[in-house]
Amino acid sequence: MIESAHDALLPAGPQAVALANLWWVLLAACVLVFVAVMAALAWALWRAPRATTASAPDTPQRAGEARMRRWVGAAVVVSGMLLLLLLAASAFTDRALAGLPLGDAVHIELTGHQFWWEARYDDADPSRIFTTANELHVPVGRPVLLTLRASDVIHSFWVPSLHGKKDLIPGRESTFAFRADRAGIYRGQCAEFCGWQHANMALLVIADEPGAYEQWASAQRAPASAPASDEERRGRELFATSTCAMCHAVAGTLAQGRRAPDLTHVASRLTIAAGTLPNTAATRAAWILDPQQFKPGVNMPPHEFAPQDLAALGAFLGSLR
Ligand code: CUA
Repeated sequence: MIESAHDALLPAGPQAVALANLWWVLLAACVLVFVAVMAALAWALWRAPRATTASAPDTPQRAGEARMRRWVGAAVVVSGMLLLLLLAASAFTDRALAGLPLGDAVHIELTGHQFWWEARYDDADPSRIFTTANELHVPVGRPVLLTLRASDVIHSFWVPSLHGKKDLIPGRESTFAFRADRAGIYRGQCAEFCGWQHANMALLVIADEPGAYEQWASAQRAPASAPASDEERRGRELFATSTCAMCHAVAGTLAQGRRAPDLTHVASRLTIAAGTLPNTAATRAAWILDPQQFKPGVNMPPHEFAPQDLAALGAFLGSLR
């Protein structure tokens, strides 16, 4: 559906590179040990005295046992050294993960909900703060500092191309930093079972060149665009006076619900329902009528709208770029 990277072995940031390197070191060590153990086993089977062989005189057997003891001793020493090496490799990786410089970081408060992501872009100037959902835009080459929270149950933030996992725990705030060094779309996935639609709790991290990022951010800061037609105007009224406004917010209108994704610029996103459906007029309309058909168990109930009302709502939502 959306062309995106979701692969810990295709790293796009310094921390993902450190994790991928550790993965390759572990793989190499494990392959080496496996091959050595299999070779020793094959050699032992080939050399094993047949059970039926009459007991041989003492001396050669004693010599064999002594040689075997030396081999086992050497193998124990090598295993110990290998384990120490892996321990050191993971300690170095840990340091590399924590060592990301955070000067001029973009600060985002990311809250996990059943089953979507709320992202609030923080700023020292309150008028520059804005909220979006399920899609993070970040500037290439600049660190991003996430403050992670959960509103209901434990979720886990995981964008394999950018970093490892970090849990979002109700009642506890934690931070998580990463940097994207290559422009692209990186798919993330909730990595902690959080209920029926856990598997449909995806998010996209879109790494833009700095100029494109600033452009996106300033567009997100703007209130919803004014309706350009009667139909859009009627859609906006419908949205504010029906149940939509109880959960959703559209900045610059009467709709200020905070229980569900902010829709101020919903039409500018690539997907809806946390990566479940591509964002088109048809999927938005189908989703409004019956979200449970696509994502059974989500909090949004089915709706009944007359066809012309649905069209007006669709026109309004489509105008929220
Ligand atoms: Cu949220 Cu799994």
